Amino acid sequence: MAGKILIVDDELVVIKSCERILAPEGYDVSGVTSASDALGEIQNGNFDLIITDLKMPGMDGLELIRRVKEKNPSAGIVVITGYPSQESIKDALEYGIIDYLPKPFSPQLLLDVTEKAMSLVKAQKVEEKPPEVQDVEAKLGEIYNVINRNRNTPGALIPILQQTQEILGYLPPAVQRIIAKELNLPVSEVHAVVSFYSFFTMKPKGKHNIRVCLGTACYVKRANEILEKLSEYLGIGEGEITEDRKFSIETVRCLGACGLAPVVVIDHDTHGGVDPVKVSEIVKQYN
Ligand code: FES
Repeated sequence: MAGKILIVDDELVVIKSCERILAPEGYDVSGVTSASDALGEIQNGNFDLIITDLKMPGMDGLELIRRVKEKNPSAGIVVITGYPSQESIKDALEYGIIDYLPKPFSPQLLLDVTEKAMSLVKAQKVEEKPPEVQDVEAKLGEIYNVINRNRNTPGALIPILQQTQEILGYLPPAVQRIIAKELNLPVSEVHAVVSFYSFFTMKPKGKHNIRVCLGTACYVKRANEILEKLSEYLGIGEGEITEDRKFSIETVRCLGACGLAPVVVIDHDTHGGVDPVKVSEIVKQYN
């Protein structure tokens, strides 16, 4: 389905012609003849796009837009108007409508405006998804391959979690739910296993993961200052990820390179004898 659309117009003929034009293109179109009916439909309907007339008896289109936007600022709205120059169009634009259709409009114009609005709405929806859900969706095929490869093996849960973590870098709740469902296990059981083993993590890692060693040999050589300077420079603490998801910081208790103390490992590169004051210079080498 190309998208779910609600047409709001007091003229039934406008609703019908929109349906005739949009439905063959794969849109799921329904219509109502008043703004108050529209509010009821929107509450239950989960529409991608609302195409509404501005001038209607009773509640007008502008009030409808105001109320819809109040509850859902990212709602996709296109306006139909007989008077594109009227003040209300300016107000509607200020409320954040995507576009408007001057009456009478050609079928092609309706299709073009709808397609443009729908692609904007969909792009916005992707952006709105939490990053962890986007991560899981981007790797869904690989995750299902792992599950299908292992699902009939006794004790499949741990190998599936390990391989999924190799793909995603972490095990967010979204992926735990998928694995639980596919293995017919309660989510709480999957979550308990992930929390129990220290090699599983629910925290995302940045494009570059920075590990600061706080083991004894490194600690006596000011490793804690390295951590402080790094946190200051990147604006994140231990176990956190920068907003652009480029860097994450974690601490470890000995990287097996005590002779090089203090040690910082970025991705697979080991940096020894790190000067706390210069640690940001090292980080700058990673883009
Ligand atoms: S204590 Fe840091 S590498 Fe061993």
